[in-house]
Amino acid sequence: MHIHAYEKLWLALSIGLILALIGTVTYGAVGPGVAMVADTQPTIDPTALDEDERFSEPRVEQVGENEYEAYVVARQFGFQPDPIVVPANSTVTFYITSADVIHGFEVAGTNANAMVVPGEVSEITVKVEEPQEYGLICNEYCGAGHHVMEGKIHVVS
Ligand code: CUA
Repeated sequence: MHIHAYEKLWLALSIGLILALIGTVTYGAVGPGVAMVADTQPTIDPTALDEDERFSEPRVEQVGENEYEAYVVARQFGFQPDPIVVPANSTVTFYITSADVIHGFEVAGTNANAMVVPGEVSEITVKVEEPQEYGLICNEYCGAGHHVMEGKIHVVS
């Protein structure tokens, strides 16, 4: 009888752990500010970005009163545009793609972070408040110049 009770306990614990794990994974995928590769849109041709409506001219566009869209290209070894200039107190959706290999798009000091995969468009939406300057870093190893691949985001008033 003793052993039987323990087995039940362990079974309950295992199931609990599995459920907790599933909960963590699900939360991670939908959590605030976390952009996974799964958040991507239809594929594009990384070798033909100069013919792409959104990425031929990397830029920031106003799409609403306080809403902006930024089309960003990552390539060995930098980001375009650089700096990315956005107004304070606005919501900015970044659409980021790569012209060559896998890069990272991490806004230093924030939880805004996306993997940038050639052929895919990563989407990440952030709210910016005070005027401030943020560093943009590539956190995926992308070649000899990886450690110098960086950019800037200027939040201006
Ligand atoms: Cu781009 Cu590391």
